[in-house]
Amino acid sequence: MERLVIEGGERLSGSIRVHGSKNAALPILAAVVMADGETVVHDVPNLDDIHVMLDILRSLGARVTYDNGNVTVDPRTIHTTDVPEHLMRLMRSSIFLMGPLLTRFGSVRVSKPGGCTIGSRPVDFHLKGLELLGAEITDRHGFIECRAERLRGATIFLDYPSVGATENLMMAAALADGETVIGNAAREPEIRDLADFLVRLGARVRGAGEDTITIEGVPRLASCEFDVSPDRVVAGTLLLAAAVTRGNVQLRNVRAADLTAVITKLRETGVQVTVSHDILELKRTGALRAVDRIQTAPFPGFPTDLQAPFMSLLTLANGISVISETVFEDRFQHVSELQRMGAAIKVDLRSAFVRGVKELSGAVVEATDLRAGAALVLAGLAAEGTTVVERVHHIDRGYEALELQLQDLGARITRVRDAKRRIGKKADA
Ligand code: UD1
Repeated sequence: MERLVIEGGERLSGSIRVHGSKNAALPILAAVVMADGETVVHDVPNLDDIHVMLDILRSLGARVTYDNGNVTVDPRTIHTTDVPEHLMRLMRSSIFLMGPLLTRFGSVRVSKPGGCTIGSRPVDFHLKGLELLGAEITDRHGFIECRAERLRGATIFLDYPSVGATENLMMAAALADGETVIGNAAREPEIRDLADFLVRLGARVRGAGEDTITIEGVPRLASCEFDVSPDRVVAGTLLLAAAVTRGNVQLRNVRAADLTAVITKLRETGVQVTVSHDILELKRTGALRAVDRIQTAPFPGFPTDLQAPFMSLLTLANGISVISETVFEDRFQHVSELQRMGAAIKVDLRSAFVRGVKELSGAVVEATDLRAGAALVLAGLAAEGTTVVERVHHIDRGYEALELQLQDLGARITRVRDAKRRIGKKADA
């Protein structure tokens, strides 16, 4: 068991480079199985989820190396399309392998992902889309098996602009016969990244970043080198860390256009955010103002992944802020932990009403999921006294040594290994 121990009250300052995006890297690493030769992906963050994906690729037979953010994969030695259950269970995103393995090798078998702490997270859109592309799917005994000698292009309309389903279907369509049109597609920046990678491999993809994506299937893909774009959720979290500590922080390697909704809301709280090329700077000099409304939504709306971290900031803003979560049904688990630190928050169905308080006080709290964990770290940076954030493994799924990044900016935060478990807390979901 590892925990983060934070002595609150330090103002963050300095400059830091934002690492590559986890959510962009994961589907790209899945897409690599379709390449025809050694493929190199740069700026892949050193995160637990990434290493699970690399272990899955190895278990399929691919040759994989990870060296300081540079991943080299040779998929020509892949000899099975069965994704091992124990690895699949470690990470939902292994579902991304369905489309590429099926379209490249004609079959795939994965264990069915369960729900997770933020919601039920079904994969029905992925499966419906693959069926429309001609896959025969069986869903039995907790496993999903898909078969198709060759997928055929089709017109698919997603009931909701799901990021994962859009990515899975784009990859499947890349090697299908004929044209696929995905309507109501997700427009997240990570979709553009995946499309750019596929095009670099020789795929024909148009419209990524818009709500209709067209893929003209090609018989084979080549190999390439690719740079993953910066992680907008990490950038947003670091901006919020600066804001909550009255800090002044510069972030390098950021795409401000990917963070428009977040920057707009940050400015509404009264902090200064300036943008210059790929550099963002946040400076806070005065008190924070509450924001009327934050409603999470698919891109370009406010990202659900920054809902919890933003709530930590608003716990200290003058007035009442309203935050509505529309993407996942159960993403307010950080609320009870923030309340332990003195935050005044009421939840009514899918909205949280946050009345700013003068001060948070340090407490022992528990990260229930990745972004909830980040939210607690931010609260701890601002709180009076010591905060202990338990279950750090959730945070490690999405932030590369978050404590070291924050230490660089002047935070007093350390990682402590502790064999003892707190009594009476629930096990991992
Ligand atoms: C991705 C991101 C995650 C982010 C989320 C929303 C990755 C690895 N993860 O997750 O960080 O929070 O987008 O921006 O990129 N849904 C269905 N059926 C499906 C698929 C999705 O009902 O087949 C629902 C989900 O339960 C959820 C909503 O659609 O309520 C959005 O999910 P989706 O966009 O698919 O999220 P992920 O791709 O899982």
